[in-house]
Amino acid sequence: MAEWKCAGLVLLVLATTMAIAEARTIIVGGSENWRYGYNYTDWALKNSPFFINDKLVFQYGPPHNVYLLPNLYSYLKCDFRGAALLAGPSNGAGNGFEVVLNQYRLYYFASSSDKDCSDGLMKFFAFPLPRWQ
Ligand SMILES: *[C@@H]1O[C@H](CO)[C@@H](O)[C@H](O)[C@H]1NC(C)=O
Repeated sequence: MAEWKCAGLVLLVLATTMAIAEARTIIVGGSENWRYGYNYTDWALKNSPFFINDKLVFQYGPPHNVYLLPNLYSYLKCDFRGAALLAGPSNGAGNGFEVVLNQYRLYYFASSSDKDCSDGLMKFFAFPLPRWQ
């Protein structure tokens, strides 16, 4: 019995370690970074699926930013009322701003500056999947 428990613990530790080891760091937009006019819906489709604990990196300059929108409606309408600012215009410099997808939820990302979201295609959503399925 004790042996069985021990084996279980080892497996659990192994699975956790593997999950951490496999987490990816993904630059949003790839070499295009986070900019006006690049289709991030398309980018997200091509880079899906995302997995739990994957790290998204937003690299950009002013006036862009990164907001988390509260729901599908606000996402479709580019309505920033009730949205949470994750990173301001100056936070995308250098290595950029990182978000770890560590919750099982829909993440609606968008930039709010001027028409970034409505005309500039600077929005996408991600739903991280479990790693060992
Ligand atoms: C952006 O990409 C999506 C998915 O490929 C596509 O459905 C949409 O029409 C594109 N938008 C524009 C404005 O090209």
